[in-house]
Amino acid sequence: MRKKVIAGNWKMNMTPSEAVELVDTLKPLVDNPEVDVVFCVPAIDIIPVVEAAKGSNIQVGAENMYFEDKGAYTGEISPAMLTDAGIKYVVLGHSERREYFAETDETVNKKMLKAFEHGLTPIMCCGETLEQREQGVTMDFIRQQVKIGFQNVTAEQAKTAVIAYEPIWAIGTGKTATTEQAQEVCKGIRACIAEVYDEATAEAIRIQYGGSVNAETAPELFAQPDIDGGLVGGASLKPDFGKIVNYK
Ligand code: PGA
Repeated sequence: MRKKVIAGNWKMNMTPSEAVELVDTLKPLVDNPEVDVVFCVPAIDIIPVVEAAKGSNIQVGAENMYFEDKGAYTGEISPAMLTDAGIKYVVLGHSERREYFAETDETVNKKMLKAFEHGLTPIMCCGETLEQREQGVTMDFIRQQVKIGFQNVTAEQAKTAVIAYEPIWAIGTGKTATTEQAQEVCKGIRACIAEVYDEATAEAIRIQYGGSVNAETAPELFAQPDIDGGLVGGASLKPDFGKIVNYK
């Protein structure tokens, strides 16, 4: 049985002091040992959030990192900086980073390899635009994102990874994909992993759904056989996140 992983993606929200307040509020609400609970937070919030989350079940993640170990890359954050600060997970290739910061499947792949090298668990995002869905190329597009993203990743590494399926048209729009749409694509992603690796890897990898997940939609989404949790934006900043984590 795959353990569910429910992650908040704070995006560019919460100053360090607001972050500590939010963790203090959410700590008792997200206390569910059956689920891996991850707060993916802005870089400047990492250290105070790790500190505030001590003694709780909250694991802390980053929203991005660079694919080099160190050097002249002004403004970037290295994987060793993350691990040294107590980070376990890192979101890679979120659609907002692809759209606004020119991330490509190739840079996502480099970051994936670097994350594994440092013992970080990547949450690799993929997902189609509305136009692609209407053109009927959703699965072709996502298969390409997954295949390039996982290039040279070993089966042993892939087994520990998390993939977040986030249809771009459902992010921050209040439009959740239907349960059937979400399950269908997550199942397709698992089949793609089985093709690239093998059945055992496909069975082990965790696949989240993301895109306007809320306390109402979470129970049905997370009950699907191929949906192993969620990546939650807006609702992760509210007490509602506690209900999402305790979706059963
Ligand atoms: P949303 O964001 O829940 O606000 O739609 C999800 C995400 O972008 O990870």
